[in-house]
Amino acid sequence: MSSARADRVRSGIPELDKMLNGGYMRGDSVLLAGSAGTGKSTMGLQYLIQGAKDGEAGIYLTFEEMPDQLYRDAKNFGWDMKKLEEDGKLRVICTSPDVLMEPGGLEAILEDPIKRLGARRIVVDSLSHFNMFMKPDSLRLQVYRNVMFFKTKGLSSMLIWEASQSPGMSFTISEEGISFLADCIVVLKLIEIESALRRGVVVMKMRGSPHDRRLREYEIASGGIKVAGSFENYEGLMGGTPTKASSERFAELFRKSTEK
Ligand SMILES: Nc1ncnc2c1ncn2[C@@H]1O[C@H](COP(=O)(O)OP(=O)(O)OP(=O)(O)O)[C@@H](O)[C@H]1O
Ligand SMILES: [Mg+2]
Repeated sequence: MSSARADRVRSGIPELDKMLNGGYMRGDSVLLAGSAGTGKSTMGLQYLIQGAKDGEAGIYLTFEEMPDQLYRDAKNFGWDMKKLEEDGKLRVICTSPDVLMEPGGLEAILEDPIKRLGARRIVVDSLSHFNMFMKPDSLRLQVYRNVMFFKTKGLSSMLIWEASQSPGMSFTISEEGISFLADCIVVLKLIEIESALRRGVVVMKMRGSPHDRRLREYEIASGGIKVAGSFENYEGLMGGTPTKASSERFAELFRKSTEK
């Protein structure tokens, strides 16, 4: 795909765009969930870098990293965020969640940068920081306010959520009751297969669009996240207890029997 379809926004990961039938739907709120170190921030940045290329300026709203560290990590992937900021294609906003939680806080922080930049995309890294300050009911309300505000401003948004997962265990992202607020949910998982920890991405839901339902393997490499093939030969990966599919088991038994 050389150019974006008008109704889609590209993720920056061509294979993921294929899984999404062309990209995220324009104006949608995407929930990106995954456990620690799965590459959520990387995927968020990659989404904004693609936006800059597609003429869709973006805001990275972070409660997470110190800016210097963020710029350095991005540079390691070959992304010059300082340059993009100078060119008016990106804006990094570092703030504390309690500032946003005050009445009118969201508008006070974002109204002006959105206008100046003509922003079309936003990444929030991460919603889990709100979680430290509030009970589930207030969290839901806060997330709802965010989502509605972004929609009013015509922004396509990516909301990062740190979901707990220990290797080999399944996890649920509906615990906090926020998944229904998202139009699309993408989950990053660590999967233990034959004593090695591998990474898998799955599109759990996408309102109003067909999408790939398979768990696909991805890697974090020099240019960012790359999605590869599916784990076709394994069953039960989402539940955390991968077993080889019967066809694969059969092939293995067959091989063994012919080796003798
Ligand atoms: N330049 C790089 N090249 C290859 N892999 C990298 C590079 N930088 C980071 N990684 C990998 O990416 C992982 C972290 O990515 P990232 O910070 O995006 O994850 P995260 O899900 O946001 O983590 P956290 O939960 O800490 O916020 C690292 O653990 C490392 O494996
Ligand atoms: Mg992160």
